[in-house]
Parts: sequence; structure tokens; C-alpha cells
Amino acid sequence: MAENNDFWNFYWETRLRPMETLGKRAAILATSKLIRQISPQIDHPLRLLELGCGEGQIIGMLLDAHSQVASPENSVAVDYDPVALATCRKDYPALRCVEGDFTDSELISSFGKFDILILVNALHHVFSDSYSDKFGEVDVPVGKQRVEQAFTDAVNCLEPGGWVVLFDGIEIPGDPDRLVQLCFQDNRALRNFEKFARTYKPFRVSYRKTSSLCVEVPQRHYNRYMTKSIFLEKKLWDSERFESYQYFTETEFRATFTRNHLEITEYRPLTVNEQKWRRQVNIEASSINFPNEHVLILGQKK
Ligand SMILES: C[S@@+](CC[C@H](N)C(=O)[O-])C[C@H]1O[C@@H](n2cnc3c(N)ncnc32)[C@H](O)[C@@H]1O
Repeated sequence: MAENNDFWNFYWETRLRPMETLGKRAAILATSKLIRQISPQIDHPLRLLELGCGEGQIIGMLLDAHSQVASPENSVAVDYDPVALATCRKDYPALRCVEGDFTDSELISSFGKFDILILVNALHHVFSDSYSDKFGEVDVPVGKQRVEQAFTDAVNCLEPGGWVVLFDGIEIPGDPDRLVQLCFQDNRALRNFEKFARTYKPFRVSYRKTSSLCVEVPQRHYNRYMTKSIFLEKKLWDSERFESYQYFTETEFRATFTRNHLEITEYRPLTVNEQKWRRQVNIEASSINFPNEHVLILGQKK
């Protein structure tokens, strides 16, 4: 089969079938398409950099798929979790896997220059790591500043004309203090919400019970609850409860890209888990729906 879109659709459908995470899929498909678009115009094997690579599924699968035009030896995957990185090394032995903190600008600038920078569910960790014991919450201005700095340092690793693929959580538009009425499908869903409110670490969650199965909650907490609700009954909650996926609004993402001389070529808000949420909760508000809680952004360095 010629390597046209049908070939790639079939290829990824087969390879990504076991992958449950819809956001990761979207990032892989968008990056694969980008590689196909830009590789004919670039006279060297493409170099990819993934920061916060985890087990390396994203960068590893992309390098496997595009081995004729991209180079694992000249690509780099960075994570500070040695366990995840050990799996990355085992699964993708040709790829250079580096254990380290990607907010260390000296470290990442030592890797050289890249054609594509991948940041998938990575920057929200920088924001969440800005938890202040003094406030008992994330220090929001400090967290945003650290995200901004980490992003700038990462973009500096790109060649002029290089590309960023960013996938992460997003703050939904509108007043964060606006009250949203949530009605749970059953007592189990309500108990899960109460567990979220009790044990979610990045922010203190306030809410008011309005009837036996309904609560009123400020938008900022509602948005976070929605994205975390699918983990509440899983072991993963032990780590998920420390992370806020949300840190920037659309306006802030766009401003950050502009400040870093990146032209946005694709901005795609995504609702990743609506079907799962609908099993737990109804949203009783005319002007609000299940949120576009994630975003995929592609940008090119001018
Ligand atoms: C949610 S996982 C995403 C992994 C991968 N990008 C994916 O989507 O499959 C985030 C990863 O970023 C790593 N991470 C977070 N902050 C980091 C930092 N400052 N330096 C290095 N790795 C970091 C975590 O250890 C974790 O493996």
C-alpha cells in the first residue's frame, strides 16, 4: 500500500487500538501527520525531543513509524522518573533516554537542536509542583511563571522553523467563581465527589450541598473534578490527586506561544472523557456543558 493517508489511518488504527487514552492518541496522530508534511522539506533525519516522556510511548511509537525520515539516535526523551525511563529504554533501545528534570535549562540546552518538541501532559506537572505549604494550595502566579519559563527553555531547543506539539489540560472560559450545579447519578458518584473534595491536593475544594444528590461548586473546582472523576475509584488516584491538569486559559496559551515567537497552526480543544462523565453526573446549568478540558496545540517557530 502506498504511504498515503489511508495507509497511515490503517497503520495507526491498528497500533493504537489498545491505547485507551484519547488525548495521547490525538497527539500521536497530529505529530505523525506533521512529520509526513515536513520531512520532504528537511534535508536531515528529523530529531524529536519529548520532555516528560514517561515510558516513551509517544516518541517511541512515532520514531518506529517514521524510521525512514526520523532518527532515534538524534532524538531525546527526558523524564525524572527512573522507573518509567527504564521501560522507555527497554522498549526503545535506539532512543536516547535521559533521566533528569526538564525544567533544568542547562540540561536541556546541552542536547542540541531539534525539529519537533513534544510536550504531552508534561507542563501541568510543573504547575502542580508549585504547591505552597504556606498557602496549602498551588501558588498560582509562581506555578504559571514556572510553566512559562519551562516552555521558553524548551522552545529554545528548537531549530528556527521547528515545531511544538503541546497537549495538556486547559482552564475553561468564564468566571472561575461562577457556581455550577452538579447532580450525581447515584450515591456512589456523590461519594466519589466528596472524596475528590476531601483529598484533592492542589486546591482546597469548596462546595455546597443543594439536595440529596446535588451540589453547587465554583467553576474552577468543577473543571478539575470532571477531569479527575474517572480516577477516583482507581489506584491511580494516589498520584492523580496531586496534579492539576489545568493551569492556562486559551488566552494564556495563545499569549505564551506568541511571546515565544511561535505561530499557532492548529488549536484544537478536546473533550476527552464525556461518555465516562455522563455515567456519573448531570450538569444543571443552561450556559455550561461538559468542558473542553484538554487542548492540542501545534505551533511553528518563526
Ligand atoms: C502524565 S506523564 C506523561 C508521559 C508522556 N508524555 C505520555 O503522555 O505518555 C508526565 C510525565 O512527566 C514527568 N515529569 C513531570 N515533571 C517533570 C520534570 N520537571 N522533569 C522531568 N520529567 C517530569 C513525569 O515523571 C511523568 O512521567
